[in-house]
Parts: sequence; structure tokens; C-alpha cells
Amino acid sequence: PWHSVQCLRHKFFFFGLHCLSVCPPLGMESHRIENDQLLTSSVYQHRYSSHRARLNIQASGDEDDMNGGAWCANPEEKMHWIELDARTLTEFTGVITQGRDDPLDDYVSSYYVAFSNDSREWTVLDDGYAEWLFFGNSDKNTPVLSQFMEPVVARYIRILPQSWNGTMCMRMEVLGCPVPDPLSQYQSQNEVTHRDDLDYTHHNYLDMEKLMKSISDECPNITRFYSLGKSFKGLEIYAMEITDNPGMHETGEPEFRYTAGYHGNEALGREILLMLMQYLCREYKDDNPRVRHLVDETRIHLVPSVNPDGHMKAFEKGSELGSWTLGHWTEDGHDIFQNFPDLNNILWDAEDKGMVPKLIPNHHLPIPEGILSSNGSVAVETLALISWMESHPFVLGANLQGGERLVAYPFDMRQEEIRVIEDQSLFRWLAISYASTHRTMTQTFQGGCHADDPTGGLGIVNRAKWKPIPGSMNDFSYLHTNCFELSIFLGCDKFPHQSELLREWEHNREALLTFITQVHRGIKGVVRDKEGNPISNATVSVEGINHDVRTGESGDYWRLLNPGEYRVTARAEGYSPFTRLCVVGFDPGATLCNFDLNKSNWDRIKQIMALHGNRPIRLLSSGNRGSGQRYTHSTNQIPNSKFSNKIPNGNGGDMNRARLHRLRLMRIRRLRQQRLLASKTTMLPTTTTMTTTTVPTTTESTTPWYDSWRLGETFEENTTPTGEIELTDSLDYNYNYKIDDY
Ligand SMILES: *[C@@H]1O[C@H](CO)[C@@H](O)[C@H](O)[C@H]1NC(C)=O
Ligand SMILES: *[C@@H]1O[C@H](CO)[C@@H](O)[C@H](O)[C@H]1NC(C)=O
Ligand SMILES: *[C@@H]1O[C@H](CO)[C@@H](O)[C@H](O)[C@H]1NC(C)=O
Ligand SMILES: *[C@@H]1O[C@H](CO)[C@@H](O)[C@H](O)[C@H]1NC(C)=O
Ligand SMILES: *[C@@H]1O[C@H](CO)[C@@H](O)[C@H](O)[C@H]1NC(C)=O
Ligand SMILES: *[C@@H]1O[C@H](CO)[C@@H](O)[C@H](O)[C@H]1NC(C)=O
Repeated sequence: PWHSVQCLRHKFFFFGLHCLSVCPPLGMESHRIENDQLLTSSVYQHRYSSHRARLNIQASGDEDDMNGGAWCANPEEKMHWIELDARTLTEFTGVITQGRDDPLDDYVSSYYVAFSNDSREWTVLDDGYAEWLFFGNSDKNTPVLSQFMEPVVARYIRILPQSWNGTMCMRMEVLGCPVPDPLSQYQSQNEVTHRDDLDYTHHNYLDMEKLMKSISDECPNITRFYSLGKSFKGLEIYAMEITDNPGMHETGEPEFRYTAGYHGNEALGREILLMLMQYLCREYKDDNPRVRHLVDETRIHLVPSVNPDGHMKAFEKGSELGSWTLGHWTEDGHDIFQNFPDLNNILWDAEDKGMVPKLIPNHHLPIPEGILSSNGSVAVETLALISWMESHPFVLGANLQGGERLVAYPFDMRQEEIRVIEDQSLFRWLAISYASTHRTMTQTFQGGCHADDPTGGLGIVNRAKWKPIPGSMNDFSYLHTNCFELSIFLGCDKFPHQSELLREWEHNREALLTFITQVHRGIKGVVRDKEGNPISNATVSVEGINHDVRTGESGDYWRLLNPGEYRVTARAEGYSPFTRLCVVGFDPGATLCNFDLNKSNWDRIKQIMALHGNRPIRLLSSGNRGSGQRYTHSTNQIPNSKFSNKIPNGNGGDMNRARLHRLRLMRIRRLRQQRLLASKTTMLPTTTTMTTTTVPTTTESTTPWYDSWRLGETFEENTTPTGEIELTDSLDYNYNYKIDDY
């Protein structure tokens, strides 16, 4: 004990009779080590080259691409080594090795380690008597740590495999601390700014509980510490509410959520949310105007650990030694994130039959009977989430995940083909609002975590196009509730070393705040009757977007929308629908769009119908729901005429619709290119007619103002890996648009 205290004091780790020095990972897994810092003696095949040697890198299923599950050496060669250039003098304290991610069992079972300052003369590490043979792996997945008795100072490190199973393949991490360079000391002092004095450590379950309690005690006026329910093993799924009047929904104040830790080993999201809580509490107390505004105007819910049982498992092994999947699932084996009822197929089938939205709603789809109670197919954690999602009028949310560095927007599921989500341009905006304000998410030179960057440098991707999954939280949230939900993948390393947490916080802070602000985008309001009583469960539809929202208990609603002009209709049982024009500008804050509905004479009509033996009566002005209604305006077309007006629902099905949409996109793209060529010098809306064709165009119509924002050509030129043209929305904005004023 005395020894270990001494050890700790000196950043050492007590081991037997020695204090072993422990340095953090240099960043093979996090990709802080760049590809050109790695060199190998030989390569078995291109797909097993040196940069595939990163700890926990995942092979692609495709045998023909470049993304193998490890570095593998050419078996013909006699000598094998992999070399890392730390680029600066480094105190090396250990290495972690792992086998190949592959159905076969390939791994290195013993190796030597050598060091150099010039990469020509090498010194093999010895144990005082002979060259020190380290024991490596005995399976392909479990990382094994070897620590050196003493730190070794050098610039280059080599691992020389001596024995292996199967093919000679390995993945690895290297532990080291940079040796302070007196010349650059001034520089490094400037580098780390402890501006936000937060707790940058990993927290186990009890530490997390303690921290959340202490935050709640520190800021009692703006927080509420509560639980969504219990995990399989009985741990609480804790949440922190942060708002000016915690514990209640305030009419007109939108509810926002961040959740994390669906997969217990993705520990970064958990810590980021714990840091965000501390930050909001402190900054609110310090009168930071931005935080004050955010907290006063939004009901924010933060759930750092949806799967506490899984985290406990991963935490025991620590940040480097859990495998890629240890703690990923719940105790009883569920992947919470994709454990939600599949409503996509219900909607899509109905769409194909032309039943949406007349017979089947385009929103708030009910969960089919029996799914939630069926024996063990839905995790208790998922059930807790669902009832929480149903009991708060959430407007926007994001789930923080790990193992990739991008933002993924729904749909997450696909069938034979990808279905474009109704609110795609909005989802893309939401995704870009995070990715572009994150410090490194759009750094294209870094590539993807396991394969080529799937985002084309934008940092955002449609999940169905990238890695489709059924039953996701995002799809469920969109189809069953009002809430728009996205997935934020924070980085390649799911469980970064503690020393990375400050840096990760700095990378994410601005993005986290910017994304919350997006909840105040679009329109909001209250639906009331003539006496001023709120009408709950009223439907609010936006023409051209076949996805409605509903009012909450106090009659309030929010409809996230990109800037534009919209015809919005409110409907409620027993009232006459009412349609009005609502304009969303670029200014921060949602546009207020209230509705006062008149009682309909429907009750009277029903009486008359009953008198006449319930024969159907044809209503003359029932108003249209969702898409389908045409709208003309002398000078402006409605921006969101994207899918509406063109192809009648259910006529030809979605395949047709998608194909027509694609053709239309190509035509628009051609026209736009012509126009760009013609008016290279001007950014102002030109007077060319925007040929959205099927909207009855008046010959004199001017280009919609929003068209000048559509410079997102880069988006549109993306092609999918199969060479197919992306079904991007024709209403993309210029995403260089500054959003920090929000
Ligand atoms: C590399 O250089 C440093 C400082 O000059 C020295 O302490 C260290 O022993 C050298 N390492 C090797 C492997 O030669
Ligand atoms: C070694 O590799 C062979 C073939 O690749 C595999 O069948 C065997 O199970 C592996 N041995 C161990 C101990 O993993
Ligand atoms: C909480 O609010 C009350 C009054 O509203 C105020 O007096 C008190 O100082 C606040 N407490 C904290 C910790 O901010
Ligand atoms: C549910 O599953 C458990 C074991 O997994 C089984 O003992 C029980 O009979 C099942 N109940 C029903 C209603 O199927
Ligand atoms: C809300 O309205 C829909 C129809 O618009 C109806 O099917 C549903 O039962 C209503 N829900 C509640 C809780 O009143
Ligand atoms: C409600 O009815 C009054 C007349 O009774 C009419 O003037 C008004 O326009 C109606 N409002 C709506 C929203 O339908």
C-alpha cells in the first residue's frame, strides 16, 4: 500500500516489487498516430498494410476491398517487424497487441521489442540477461498488455513477432509519454487551456451517481436528478434535467435530450454528458449569457448511461483492454439502440398501398399489440426509454455513440432500396450543425475509422446508406413521437484513455451547444379553441412534407423546419381545420405560429347522417393532409414542394417515386450548373425560372429566394460506393453558412 501510494504519486503503477511507469496510448486506436508514422517489413496483401495495425480496427466484410482486419506480414519473408515513428523523443512504457479481426484465428503469440533514435540502429529490449521475449495473444480479439520494467527513451519503436498462430497478423497500441522538449515548453503551455474546470476522469457507476448528485446540489434551481428506470441488473438509468423550472413542462418551451451509453463500452459519450452537465451548471451560475438563454428557453435532459450493466463490464477491463465488443450489449444480450419496434415496415407497406396519410398516419404510428410484452424480445432498458420518450414532448435529440467519427441521420433501416426520409433536408442540416462545429469531424485527411471516410469529408451520412440497421431508436423516434433523433459517433476510440477526455471535451463543446440550439429552429405555437382553451393531440401538418406533428397536453407544438415559407394546417377532432402561411427566416428562434380553431359542425353532420341511415356524405372542403395539395403564389413557390405535388402517393409506388425523384434531381442539377456557369459572378437570386416543373408555374415567377442558398453542389455530386447517384435532397443549403450566431 505504501509502495502503491508512492507509485501513484509518481504516475507509476505498483506491480510486484516495482513501480511500473504507465503512459497513455499514443493513439493507434484514436488515429492520432497517422498512417505515415507506420512502417512494416512486409505486407501479405494490400488489404493488410501497416495502417491496418490499429488496435480494434474492424475488417470490412468485403474480401476485395482494402480494409483488412490487421496488419499481416508476407509469410515468405524471414524477418517481420512493424515500426512506429513517434516523431519526437518519447518515453515508451508498454505495448498492447491483438490478433486479426477475421473469422480465422490469426494472432502473434510472442515478440521482441526494439528501439531506435534514427530508425537505422536498433536496440532490442533485454531483461538484463537476454533479449526479452514478450508473450502476446492467445486469441484474436482480446488485447494483451505488456509493460516494460523501465521506460525506454527513443523516437522509434519496433515490434518483432517471433511466433504466431495462423497467418502472422496483428493489431496494436503503443503506450508512451512525449519527453518534454525544453525548447517547445512555452508552446505546450499554451496548448492545454483548462478553461472549463471540469472533472476529466472516467466514472464508474457509483462515481457517476455521486457526481450527478453533487451537480444537482450545486445547481438546485436549474436541475433535477432522476431515473428512467432500472437496468436488467437493477442499476438506475440516471438522467439530469437542466432547465429554469425543472420538474415540469412549460408551455412553449421545447424539450431536448442527449442520451449516451447504449453500448456500455462506448464510454466517451457518457463522460461527455457528465462534463456537459457540469459545464451548464457552472456557466449558468457564472451568468454566461449563452448558457443562461439556452437553459431558460429549453428543457434539457441528459442521460449519460443507458446501459449501465454493459459499462460496468467494460470499465472493469479499462480503456484499452476491453475488446471491441465487451459490454456492448445489455446483461441479457440486447443491443439497446436497435431494440425498438420496427415501425418502418408498417409505414412503407402502407405508403406502397397509397394509404398514407389518409388511412394510416404519417406520424405517431402506434406500436403493434404485443410487441412490448412479448417474452424478452425487448430489453427492460429499451422499455424504460420508450415510456420516457412517450411521456415528454421531446422535439430534438441525439444519441452519442462511438467507434466512428461522424453524424448519422435516419432512416437507419433499409429494405431492397433506401427510402428517403420526409424531412431529409432538415436532418442533413441538423447533422451538419454538429459535424461542422466539431473540431475534427470534417477533417477529411484523417479518413474513416475502419474504412474510407463514408461521409465524403462532410462528417455526415445517411445511416441506411452506410450501415443499415432495423429497429433503431432514430427511426422509432421519428415514426412514433414528435422527436427528431440522430446518432453522433464521437470518435474511433470507443473508450479513450482518461488523458484524452479534456481534448475530447474541447472538440465537442461547441458542437454540443450548437446542436441543442437547433431545437429552436422552425415554427412553434399553441393550438387553441375560440375560448382560448388549449387543444391537445391536434395535428399540425406542413404542406409538402408528409410527416405531421401533434400538440402536447398544453396545446403546444414545435415543427423543426429549415428557412422557407410554409403552408401549415392544424386539425383536431371536432374542429374545423385551419391553414395559414408561416415564414421561417434565418434569425435564431422559432417563428410563432398559433392556431385558433373553430368548432366544426361535424357533430351536427353526424346527426344528420344518422337520420339518413349513415350514408356517406361527400365533404367539399375537407382540406388536404400532408402532401398532395397544390399551392401557387404569384411570386413565391413554397420551398418545401420537394416531393409533394409531383407524384401522387400510392400511384406507382415508392420505387417509381424514387426513380422520378432521381431523374428530377439530375435535371435540376444540370439546370443549376448551367445557371452557375451563366452567372458565376453573382450570388444574388437570378431571375431564371426554377423549373420545378409540375408546380403550376407562372411564367413570371422569380427564383425562390432560398435557391441562392443552394450552393451545396458538393453534396449533390456524391456518389454511393456502387456508383449510384445519391438521392440527395434538392433543398440543401449552403452549409458554409455560419451558425455560431445562434
Ligand atoms: C535516444 O536518445 C536519447 C536522448 O539523446 C537517449 O537518452 C536514448 O537512450 C536514445 N535511445 C536509444 C534507443 O538509443
Ligand atoms: C490457430 O489457427 C488455426 C487456423 O487458423 C485455428 O484452426 C486454430 O483454432 C487456432 N488455434 C488457436 C489456439 O486459436
Ligand atoms: C435559487 O433561487 C433562489 C431564488 O429564486 C435564490 O435565492 C438562490 O440563491 C438560488 N440558488 C442558487 C444556488 O442559485
Ligand atoms: C418466457 O421465457 C422464459 C425463459 O426465457 C420462460 O421460462 C417462460 O415460460 C416464457 N414465458 C412465456 C409467456 O412465453
Ligand atoms: C390523438 O388523435 C388521433 C387522431 O388524430 C387519435 O387516433 C388518437 O387516439 C388520439 N390520441 C389521444 C391520446 O387522444
Ligand atoms: C371562425 O369562425 C368565424 C365566424 O364564426 C370566422 O370569422 C373565422 O374566420 C373562423 N376562424 C377560423 C380559424 O376558421
